[in-house]
Amino acid sequence: SKDALLQNMNAGDYFPISYEELEERAQTVMSAGAFGYVRSGAGGEETLRSNRTDFQKHSIVPRVLTDVSSINTSITLFEKQYDHPFLLAPVGMLKLAHEDADLAVAQAAARYGIPFVQSTVSSYSIEEVAEVSSLSPKWFQLYWSNNRSVSFHMAERAEKAGFEAIVLTVDTVMLGWREEDLRNRFSPLKLGYGKANYESDQVFLQSLPDESEESIIQGILNNIHHPSLNWEDVAELKKRTKLPILLKGILHPKDAKLAVENGIDGIIVSNHGGRQLDGIISAISALPAIAEIVNKQIPVLFDSGIRRGADVVKAIALGADAVCIGRPFVYALAAGGQKGVEKLLENLIQETKVSISLAGASSIAGLSSVKLVQTT
Ligand code: FNR
Repeated sequence: SKDALLQNMNAGDYFPISYEELEERAQTVMSAGAFGYVRSGAGGEETLRSNRTDFQKHSIVPRVLTDVSSINTSITLFEKQYDHPFLLAPVGMLKLAHEDADLAVAQAAARYGIPFVQSTVSSYSIEEVAEVSSLSPKWFQLYWSNNRSVSFHMAERAEKAGFEAIVLTVDTVMLGWREEDLRNRFSPLKLGYGKANYESDQVFLQSLPDESEESIIQGILNNIHHPSLNWEDVAELKKRTKLPILLKGILHPKDAKLAVENGIDGIIVSNHGGRQLDGIISAISALPAIAEIVNKQIPVLFDSGIRRGADVVKAIALGADAVCIGRPFVYALAAGGQKGVEKLLENLIQETKVSISLAGASSIAGLSSVKLVQTT
């Protein structure tokens, strides 16, 4: 009954089910600065909002009587099969949410065979993450450094540690204009939250005047963004690693086409969760034209706005091969550490299965023929 549920919630052993409840719970356990950093978007947050409202503009037109008694949600990426069509998006500074940070999230993902994408600005190093998840799928997200030998070295460390792909983020050549963080005077980099991969990197350390905490943080601030990043850098990275390379932050069909022409292995359609440039297209609105131009030549992944199982159905029906989960797992981590992330994944897996079945499909391939209509 509702009373019992409320009692349960008050007793503190109720774990949030919906995204909205998770966000609320995270807000109660995180500092205002940390919560603001995770929640907020750039500028007036128009793009952050349209990432959600544009999902609502696409409605599923379900089929019935299709026998969905047996359903298969597996996907294949770079010749490896995964049971679920999700990855965990790269999120830096996870210690803002929970002390166990990347270690908790990587282990939760491992339990479900879901690839964990580790951020360059993670709270534990590449090697520390590899140690707790040696047999499970993991990818490494690269922020291109001003000092390219640092980038090459990090990619090399990831390859050596058993990571299976490199995700090069191309929408963050400088930080977006984030009003909430400016208002809160909040910079997780300055507070040292994203330093694990730098302070353990010999090439980076050698470039510093000394190895004091202060020099390391100043070094990261000088290194992290690289405004001149271009296709030649990408070609250079490609030469240095055997791993597949995905470009994260593609929104224009012409860039998707260039990615294919430049021999890139995959792309992630994303607007960085509305955190970079406000006023840009929502990720879900950008997806169909990109899927069309890529035409299955390389995998098209998607993030920015996935909250529920029906969102997974919509993104796949509009042409994504898989989706990445962002803020939901950060809030789940804040709310309950590794167990919290496991609970979230469990719910998302079940809800996605129900959603695919009730849309009338029984596989991920079947979803691509599920029809959506656009409403205003
Ligand atoms: C991010 N994102 C991100 N992306 C990336 O390539 N490297 C990174 O280090 C980070 N860090 C990061 C921190 C926080 C707190 C957030 C919320 C996001 C972007 C992330 O990978 C993804 O694109 C978005 O989170 C997707 O949007 P939603 O679904 O979270 O709204």
